[in-house]
Amino acid sequence: MLKFVKVMDEEELPPGKSAIISAGEDEIALFNYKGKYFAIANKCLHKGSPLGEGRIEEGVIICPNHEWRYDLETGYCRQNPFMKTKIYPVRLHKGKIRIGLEVLEKDAHLKAVGKGAHKPPESLKFKIPTIQKPINPDETL
Ligand code: FES
Repeated sequence: MLKFVKVMDEEELPPGKSAIISAGEDEIALFNYKGKYFAIANKCLHKGSPLGEGRIEEGVIICPNHEWRYDLETGYCRQNPFMKTKIYPVRLHKGKIRIGLEVLEKDAHLKAVGKGAHKPPESLKFKIPTIQKPINPDETL
């Protein structure tokens, strides 16, 4: 089941910045690229380097290690169109960034009610996101 979970405030991630989010066993690289948010698996398909530390050129995230390239919108690898990394849907709601995550069956019944509205399900243990240095040349105009 897909559940949209709040990960951070919009104002914490200005254009040109990225954050690495831990959700359960997954690490997700979240980018603000020209005012639009993109979430992609933080692990390069080549040798696993963190894509959240890469740079973006014309909508393509470039791995910081050996420069494999992935389309931010689709996750397709530019070096090999048969390879695709995982992308996550992102929504904005009242100034909060939410990422769509698969949750365990046991948490499927959880609803956002009252004070529990901002609590992620138990199966998703979040670490504090880490803001990376702005290294997107498209953003440093
Ligand atoms: S680890 Fe990403 S290109 Fe090699």
